[in-house]
Amino acid sequence: QNTRTIVFPNFKLNRCFSTPVSKEKLIVFDTSLRDGEQSPGVTLTSEEKLEIARHLSSLGVDVIEAGFPIASPGDFDAVARIAKEVGPLMNGREKIGKPMVIAGLARATEKDIKRCHEAVSHAPLHRIHTFLATSDIHLKHKLKIDREECIRRAASAVAYAKSLCEDVEFSSEDSGRSDKDFLCKVLGKVIEAGATTLNIPDTVGYTSPEEYGVLIKYLIENTPGGHKVVWSTHCHNDLGLATANTLSGILNGARQVEVTINGIGERAGNTALEEVIMNIHTHPSSYPVFHTINTQQIYRTSTLVSSLSGMVVQPNKSIVGANAFLHESGIHQDGVLKHRQTYEIMSPEDVGVFNVNLVLGKLSGRNAFRSRITELGYGDMAEVDFNKAFDRFKELADSKKRITDHDLLALLSDQVTTD
Ligand code: KIV
Ligand code: ZN
Repeated sequence: QNTRTIVFPNFKLNRCFSTPVSKEKLIVFDTSLRDGEQSPGVTLTSEEKLEIARHLSSLGVDVIEAGFPIASPGDFDAVARIAKEVGPLMNGREKIGKPMVIAGLARATEKDIKRCHEAVSHAPLHRIHTFLATSDIHLKHKLKIDREECIRRAASAVAYAKSLCEDVEFSSEDSGRSDKDFLCKVLGKVIEAGATTLNIPDTVGYTSPEEYGVLIKYLIENTPGGHKVVWSTHCHNDLGLATANTLSGILNGARQVEVTINGIGERAGNTALEEVIMNIHTHPSSYPVFHTINTQQIYRTSTLVSSLSGMVVQPNKSIVGANAFLHESGIHQDGVLKHRQTYEIMSPEDVGVFNVNLVLGKLSGRNAFRSRITELGYGDMAEVDFNKAFDRFKELADSKKRITDHDLLALLSDQVTTD
């Protein structure tokens, strides 16, 4: 293995690679609190959003989109609190060397952008993310403007955002169904106006991996100034291709991925963070990037997001589903007992799943309970809090045969916020 030092603006890491290729840092932009919260039926309180944001910071996420500040006073308040309270955190981020960038979403209007800036600017590192649709179908039926007006609005929104903030991202909504050459024109103008990240949403999850990869490559090569900005993927999962499309985007030059925990989001959801990261993790030599996600925090963050959002994770969901590391058939069990790699392509511990076989219920004792909550990140509780949590666990176990990690996290996070 070759050990090399990679220097990336604000990142300096010693990493080992099996092949002597030069890798670039992948920027992981989590939008669980914005696009994820747009999942039908999901509403999170400010406290819940703060808790998720803290976990995302320890997970090693580079940028979080904390919300859509103009949407409501509650959204504004949550984004501003995250910027103030989570924005400066360095806990568990020492190897990354900088806190998270806190971003907020804004339509391409001065009013939205100003409000967004008021909320995010409390964070040491912050970003304004503004967007405008570029597909003819959106221009004609939703915005009722022509292409010239679209270019004018996009460029003037970015110029205004840039007058407030150095870090500006622009998204061309519905890029997946936009005319490529028109996209190059719009994106060239927003680069000229100061955008530093260009995000290419497949808003309705329409493209295939090949098509999406070709689009990213074409835009990078044909947009004036395209080589000086970061290109980003943002894929929806309507056809079940969000992760494949995102990976194809990376192979074709994207260096930021927009993702959510458990793939929550509008309709069929967004690309799942855990899927993209574990694909890169299990195939390091296939991708020209490295990431700085602390993979052992994945399961813990997944269970927290699931219990706070009420979006249940399907048992057979890759990486974080309850069955993802269980072996049922005799042949598989026999194989795994002989050598784990016969039926495991990653170890559960890599994503923070420990003791998959330990079932907690009313007969479980204090040691088993302590060991499980320690693995879930609550190991440093004062003894008095531990005793309270254990009593509540026993009460719950009287009414429920099997206590899952989701139950435990609900119980523990409830205790932290009510005490
Ligand atoms: O899917 C989409 O187009 C979006 C943009 C607002 C970034 O979520
Ligand atoms: Zn989206």
